[in-house]
Parts: sequence; C-alpha cells; structure tokens
Amino acid sequence: MFCLVAVSDDSQKATRCHMESPVDPSDAWPELAPDYEQARSKEDSLDRLVEWPAQRDILGDVTERSVLDVGCGNGGKLAELVGDGATACVGVDVSGNFLSAPPAGLEFIRGDLNELDSMSGLAGRTFDRILFLQSFGYAKDPVRTLQTARAMLADNGFILLSKTQPIRYAVERAEQNKTSLGEEYFSTARFSYLSSWNDQITLRKRPYTISDLINVFGAAGLWIETAIEPQLSEDARRRYPHKQAWMNKYLGILIFKLRPHSAQ
Ligand SMILES: C[S@@+](CC[C@H](N)C(=O)[O-])C[C@H]1O[C@@H](n2cnc3c(N)ncnc32)[C@H](O)[C@@H]1O
Repeated sequence: MFCLVAVSDDSQKATRCHMESPVDPSDAWPELAPDYEQARSKEDSLDRLVEWPAQRDILGDVTERSVLDVGCGNGGKLAELVGDGATACVGVDVSGNFLSAPPAGLEFIRGDLNELDSMSGLAGRTFDRILFLQSFGYAKDPVRTLQTARAMLADNGFILLSKTQPIRYAVERAEQNKTSLGEEYFSTARFSYLSSWNDQITLRKRPYTISDLINVFGAAGLWIETAIEPQLSEDARRRYPHKQAWMNKYLGILIFKLRPHSAQ
C-alpha cells in the first residue's frame, strides 16, 4: 500500500494511490527530513535556485523582526534570517531534524502545526512574519490553522505562504492516468507521490485548486497583498536547462503574502 504527501521539488514521481491509507501524511517526515534537506542543498535544487530567493525577496528587510517558521525543516532558512537581523525567531517542525547549533535568537520546537494554539512555547507570543513554506499542505483544517497564525501576527505583520502549483500535479496525473488536465485538476480523489529522496516512502496528497486556496485565505480572514509565480533567472536557465525544462512543464510554486482583514 502507498499513499502520501506533497513536496515542491521536482525529485518526486507521482504514483497511483492503490489503497487509501489512514496514515497521517506528516508521519513520514521524521524519516524523510534528512533526505529532503540533502536534496534541497544541491546546487541545482529548485528551492535554492527559485523558491528561497523569491521567498526571501518578499520578506524584505527583517532587521528586528520576529519570525515564526511553521514546518521549518532543519531551520536553515530561519538561521539565514537571523543572520540578516531577525530576532526572537521560532521554528516549528514535526520532524525534529533541526540544526544542531542554531544562532542566538533562534529556537526550535518539535511539534505539530495543527496544534499551534496549544504549543506552550508559543503561548502569548506574536510575530512580525509567519511562514508556511511548502508546509501548509499538512494542515488538517487549513482555515483553522491560518486563523491561529493570524491571531499570532503582530501589528503590521504578514503571513508568507508558498504552495506547489496544483497544475503540476494535474499534469503528472493526466500523463499517468491517460486523462486530461481538466479532469485531474478538478478531481477530488487523493493521490500519492513516491519520494525519490527515499524510495521507501510514499506521500499522500489531497488535491486542491487555485480557487480552493484563495477561498481558504478569505475564510481565515486574510487578503492577498501579493501573489507571485517565481521562475529561474536567465543565468540559471542557461546553467540548468534540465530545470528550465521541468519548470516549463510543471510551472513551479505559488507564493502569497497574506495580511489580516482589519475588520475580522
Ligand atoms: C517540503 S518540507 C519544507 C521545509 C521548509 N519549510 C522549506 O521551505 O524548505 C515540509 C516540512 O513540513 C514539515 N511538516 C510536515 N507535517 C508537519 C506537521 N504536521 N507539523 C509540523 N511540520 C510538519 C516537514 O517535517 C517538513 O520539514
């Protein structure tokens, strides 16, 4: 049996879900995390070439800003933000695969992003920036998770959320299932991904459309200040044509800068 999750990288192959599994998709991460970080650190990883540069650009000047990174992985992105002047930063991740020597001003909490509101290390705290970078798909109740994060925003704070283009999965499944893009994009059936970071692990994914995402943001009392679909730079296109070929086919990720509606 397999079934599982979603990651933005191109190093996964979609497989058909032969059996529904009751297993929580997050359960795979304690085992998968080191393989993910190894793939992410490669010279030609899309996180390195496209995703993190675009995410970092939207964050702007983080001097004296507090940052909560939800689903932070090993915390490397947060450590970079601390190096750029961010303070009082917290990374939360279910895997516990954190940097062994985080810089001063950065702490990690091993925990479930579905329980942000009951995490003692977050009680009473607010943050200038709250990040969900390729982790929001693990929210069991996406509206509630964003409402909880929204309540932790400091004045003038925002949420930065990145998510894989849902069209990417639709293209893959249409090829595998010999169906059409539209059939797969609007399908509500769960599907699975076999991780090439660890071929013993399969991740199950809940399908979503772009309008699903936008409606979740609205229901959580958030509005989209900026949305971007980052692409490779000209230089990276020349150096890594295989990555450009992947982007041409699967589009990449969506990044949203979300602000709270003041009335809610
Ligand atoms: C695709 S990785 C992204 C990591 C990092 N945000 C980045 O941009 O490189 C997804 C992360 O979500 C974490 N994750 C999955 N389910 C989670 C949960 N229920 N609670 C907290 N973290 C979770 C995983 O452990 C993993 O580190």
